[in-house]
Amino acid sequence: MDIPFNDAEQKQLCRLALEARDQAYAPYSHHPVGAVLRTENGQIFSGCNVENAAHPLGQCAEASAIGAMVRAGERRITDVFVVGPGPHACTPCGGCRQKLWEFSDANTRVHLCVDDRVERIVTLGELLPAAFGRADVERDP
Ligand code: THU
Repeated sequence: MDIPFNDAEQKQLCRLALEARDQAYAPYSHHPVGAVLRTENGQIFSGCNVENAAHPLGQCAEASAIGAMVRAGERRITDVFVVGPGPHACTPCGGCRQKLWEFSDANTRVHLCVDDRVERIVTLGELLPAAFGRADVERDP
């Protein structure tokens, strides 16, 4: 895999995800999550989950980071870093895979962090095979 940053930078991005995670508002699940996006222009955005007393209204970390990215005018994600609590890698939920797909492609790397190290890298294509996307909506009927 041709990753556009070195080990130290990768660790730094895990740490940024940890910082985001530590700002999570997760009083109901007690499952804080942090996410970092790197765009094709090398810009970096982070987000955390934001829960709500009306539980279905909670927002995932990835969605928060996507909001920040779109606000900044960026549209293409090359890398995602996700970190949850504890010693297990936290993979993006199904809804977030779809939200990420909107601004990604099958080669977008998803770095699953545990603390400040990457435990595993998977592609979004592996996480969301046969994805439904913009082209499916815009294709002629
Ligand atoms: N969560 C995320 O923020 N991202 C994911 O991809 C998985 C789940 C959050 C949602 C909820 O606030 C908590 O983790 C437990 O599901």
